[in-house]
Amino acid sequence: MKTLVIIAHPDINQSRINAHLKQAIINQPDITVHELYREYPDESIDVQYEQRLLEDHDRTIFQFPNYWYSYPPLLKKWFDDVLERGWAFKGRYALRGKAFGVAISSGFTPEDYRFDGHHRHTIEQIMAPFYATCNFIRTKSLPLFKTFEDLMVTEADLDQQAQKYLEYLRQSFSFHYNAWE
Ligand SMILES: Cc1cc2nc3c(=O)[nH]c(=O)nc-3n(C[C@H](O)[C@H](O)[C@H](O)COP(=O)(O)O)c2cc1C
Repeated sequence: MKTLVIIAHPDINQSRINAHLKQAIINQPDITVHELYREYPDESIDVQYEQRLLEDHDRTIFQFPNYWYSYPPLLKKWFDDVLERGWAFKGRYALRGKAFGVAISSGFTPEDYRFDGHHRHTIEQIMAPFYATCNFIRTKSLPLFKTFEDLMVTEADLDQQAQKYLEYLRQSFSFHYNAWE
């Protein structure tokens, strides 16, 4: 299985979590790492190149920090530009049957992301646009890979999380959310 990881961190040089996760997955034979902010400093996305990358991989994981309960802006632009009508939906469903996932880092703790917690919403809830997109373009959606900043205190915590991330990227999931089937 070929896995593409699309990293969207606006300032990876200042990152602890996403930089650490990235280190664990680069140079793995079955994983392609693609960094949007590095590739497109002017935010001008090469749509055909991105579409080819998606077509060439079975699974795509979007890795990014939670910014105001959403994607960083270049990743939102990526969805706007790359998932073109006639390619991703309407007429053609080029990604039908492929799997999409999200590896999101957030501040706070898991307890803060509960109905009765600080944010009053779960991470799954705030990622509703992602799930709706997968449904619309007929990709399978994978469980989220979540990292909470307040739990990543030591280097050992980061190392352990990076190991779990590698396992997540290679895990086969028996359940996929396929609303259209
Ligand atoms: C502009 C901005 C908005 C943020 N919004 C949220 C948010 O809505 N929820 C949250 O839990 N953390 C939020 N954070 C915290 C980041 O998600 C967190 O610091 C980041 O995931 C840590 O990963 P890193 O070390 O790779 O940067 C925000 C940070 C910034 C800079």
